[in-house]
Amino acid sequence: MTQEDIHRLDGRTALVTGGAQGLGLGIVEELARQGAAVTIADLQVAKAQTEATRLCAAGFDVAAVSLDITQSAQVDDVFETLVRAKGRLDILVNNAGVGQHIAAVVDLSDAEWNRVIAATLTGAFYCCRAAGRIMERQEAGSIVSISSINGQNPAALVAAYNAAKAGVISLTRTLALELAAYGVRVNAVCPGPVYTEFNRTVMAERGKTLRLTEEQMIERIRASIPLGRWGQPEDIARAVVFLCSPASGWMTGEVLRVSGGLEGVSAAPPKQKRK
Ligand SMILES: NC(=O)c1ccc[n+]([C@@H]2O[C@H](COP(=O)([O-])OP(=O)(O)OC[C@H]3O[C@@H](n4cnc5c(N)ncnc54)[C@H](O)[C@@H]3O)[C@@H](O)[C@H]2O)c1
Repeated sequence: MTQEDIHRLDGRTALVTGGAQGLGLGIVEELARQGAAVTIADLQVAKAQTEATRLCAAGFDVAAVSLDITQSAQVDDVFETLVRAKGRLDILVNNAGVGQHIAAVVDLSDAEWNRVIAATLTGAFYCCRAAGRIMERQEAGSIVSISSINGQNPAALVAAYNAAKAGVISLTRTLALELAAYGVRVNAVCPGPVYTEFNRTVMAERGKTLRLTEEQMIERIRASIPLGRWGQPEDIARAVVFLCSPASGWMTGEVLRVSGGLEGVSAAPPKQKRK
């Protein structure tokens, strides 16, 4: 194998959750560029289908399927249907997740806690379990889960999101141990700030609490990143594809921060006046 070949994924079958937009779409594109046949599994199936059609027209092998990762039976069904159709599943990227509406722990509702944990941690568990069963049978495969720098270093006012992303890291490391004997590798990537729809919402809410405009928030975050710029989806996608490829063949249970050097946001708020 040449140095170039070890990053190629020709003949591999991949599934990316939440691949209709943002980081997930960047990951889909990079996997496809390296030769994988990719299925986008997303709640937004029309958007996923539009992107799949666009990428197929560009010569890539990309399909779309409707999936809500919070629905356990639906997850099992989508994974087994895919394997029946394609014969195998080589790569799972657990990318789908939701942000939390800004709230201090003392103000956080049960509903918001449960919504974030369901989509950002439990959904990843359902997908890891379904893919793990298939990959264990195959005795091959690679799972990469998207955590966050918040999973390593929590930011104030998003406790449910921090806990979900820390949970994704723990799930990754546990599964890496359990599947190692089958030759299945399981790793996590912790992205720093990338200006997707997800981050636009979080920034707007944080800006309000600090009385900063959107532009001021964007600049404040940029200035806190050691490499001096926001991330792009392809920055994250390249790291994910590396962890899916034979180039990382002796890495499992690894947690890779891709954040321009930013370790965490912290953002401790000032004392609040309570009624
Ligand atoms: N953007 C960032 O700065 C950043 C930083 C760190 C981590 N992350 C993580 O990266 C991942 C992608 O983030 P993004 O910024 O691209 O977000 P995004 O909101 O732009 O995209 C998320 C995608 O996931 C899908 N999705 C949401 N809930 C789903 C469900 N229950 N079932 C199936 N699909 C679902 C959405 O339809 C959407 O297509 C998330 O896990 C996020 O927490 C993002």
